[in-house]
Amino acid sequence: MATKTLTTLAILGMSSVTEAFWRMECRGSTGVARVDPIVDFGKVSGHAHTVHGSSGFGMGAAYADLTGGDCTSCAVKQDKSAYWTPNMYFLDSETGEYSPVPQVGGMLAYYLLRGDNVTAFPTGFQMVAGSNYRRDYTVGDPYSADPPQSNWAALKQTGQSDLEQRAVGFNCLDYKKAAEPSLYRHYLPNKTFTDANCPDGLRLELMFPSCWNGGLDSDDHKSHVAYPDLVGNGNCPDTHTQRLVTLFFETIWDTNAAEFQGKSGSFVMSNGDRTGFGYHGDFMTGWDPEFLQEAVDTCTNDSGELTDCGVFTSNGPLLSEAEQRECKFKTPLVLAAENAIANTMTELPGGVQIQDGPESATPPGGNIIDQATSVIGGILGGDSTPTTTSSSIPSSTPSTSTPIATTSSIQSGGAFLENPTSATPSTPDFGADDVPSTTTPSSTPTPSTSTSTSIVPTTTSAPPATSEPGVSYEVYSTQTITSTGLVEEIIWMQPVVYVTEDSFTTVTLPAQQKVRKARDHVVQHRHNHGRRGY
Ligand SMILES: *[C@@H]1O[C@H](CO)[C@@H](O)[C@H](O)[C@H]1NC(C)=O
Ligand SMILES: *[C@@H]1O[C@H](CO)[C@@H](O)[C@H](O)[C@H]1NC(C)=O
Ligand SMILES: *[C@@H]1O[C@H](CO)[C@@H](O)[C@H](O)[C@H]1NC(C)=O
Repeated sequence: MATKTLTTLAILGMSSVTEAFWRMECRGSTGVARVDPIVDFGKVSGHAHTVHGSSGFGMGAAYADLTGGDCTSCAVKQDKSAYWTPNMYFLDSETGEYSPVPQVGGMLAYYLLRGDNVTAFPTGFQMVAGSNYRRDYTVGDPYSADPPQSNWAALKQTGQSDLEQRAVGFNCLDYKKAAEPSLYRHYLPNKTFTDANCPDGLRLELMFPSCWNGGLDSDDHKSHVAYPDLVGNGNCPDTHTQRLVTLFFETIWDTNAAEFQGKSGSFVMSNGDRTGFGYHGDFMTGWDPEFLQEAVDTCTNDSGELTDCGVFTSNGPLLSEAEQRECKFKTPLVLAAENAIANTMTELPGGVQIQDGPESATPPGGNIIDQATSVIGGILGGDSTPTTTSSSIPSSTPSTSTPIATTSSIQSGGAFLENPTSATPSTPDFGADDVPSTTTPSSTPTPSTSTSTSIVPTTTSAPPATSEPGVSYEVYSTQTITSTGLVEEIIWMQPVVYVTEDSFTTVTLPAQQKVRKARDHVVQHRHNHGRRGY
């Protein structure tokens, strides 16, 4: 039953080939501080970040500093890259004080190998994704599900600014329910919502652009790269024809930590953003490009496991979690007195003010933002799947409680189980609270409406809720779609977990075995239908 369900759900927008990827685990944070050597090179950054990767990180860090770092907080010792994003705070509305929200389990940086001739990041390459100053969402109603990807081009939603806004996600975690899709919700939900729906916190997601013009950087740190027309998949603009590794960051924040319970207030990112629309992240490569290219060329397993990549294991074991957590960068002297994760603070680090609206958020000098790059038509030549259909995201679903298997390690098969119990709420110590969390990227589709399916009030789990292991699945809706002469019937079945966005699937299933099955069947289905990949 389960397999049937998964097969039928895995219908829209499949990729025709197995999606190879690996999941770089960076269990340690090297520090939390107002440092950002890309945007604020050589000086104190405007807002705080949580940083992962090489200990060579710092205000003036360049490639050689990263590679010269003596450790990395990621599992692969050859990865001396730096990965950083704003960190999260809770603003208590009674006291007016800020407290850091504990980050759970470090960062996962997915290296998705998508598109043709994927190129390793060259020496000195760096980029920013997202827009610090954005406080609005201009690609439709942010509280509704995205329209199907196949409609984006027709809806004129494939400009770089549009894609960038869809490249951020706030995943509401409740391990007793089905996982939400990645990049499903583009705004930071409020505390009322997270209290009611997200007992295991929020997972912040960020897809990086993967189309490239060959530059190492650019004035705005963005325009040397561009999104393909489906954010994480699709066609590159004719200005950026080369394909880099597609990076996807995940960090988990314990918004339900004991110290926030029963309190009213709001979550706010270090850049003063309570909307989530200004979420962003930075990447600076610290790889030897030849080594990384070898990994890109040979790590073609779709398990996502670092251990399935011989390049990473041939020179000794992966770094242990303890080793990853020990690695710290040196706090710059000028910031020695500033503790960005002090228990309570009267203001955000750097005195950042909360900015809720776009008016107040635009800086005087004008922040770069997305210049819409012309994108080659998305649906030409059968390269992407022209499914002109819409199927509702099941919004209210039976929420059968299932104890999700808790494990202490990342699962094979692309699952990354998040153990809800191991978070230590009151310790914003980015190391002690590790929790194996898990996610499964794989390829998937886009069920959704072309108009609006509210993703707000109903239930937290947008896709169908999970059920108990062994429970059977029920059909609750069927639908026939026609596209390019291909008629398909979609059968929506009940407790399956599925995903809407981007060929990037999150599946949370009680048992590992089921995940494998799901993946197998996804592949099988592709073959059956001869779907073209993005
Ligand atoms: C990928 O490389 C092959 C072989 O060099 C070449 O024929 C092809 O055009 C390349 N594809 C792209 C999209 O650059
Ligand atoms: C919190 O968010 C929910 C869902 O978006 C919304 O319905 C509600 O009005 C919000 N509450 C507050 C206090 O903003
Ligand atoms: C791919 O990964 C799976 C799961 O870890 C493993 O069983 C399989 O042997 C790997 N395949 C290859 C070709 O390495």
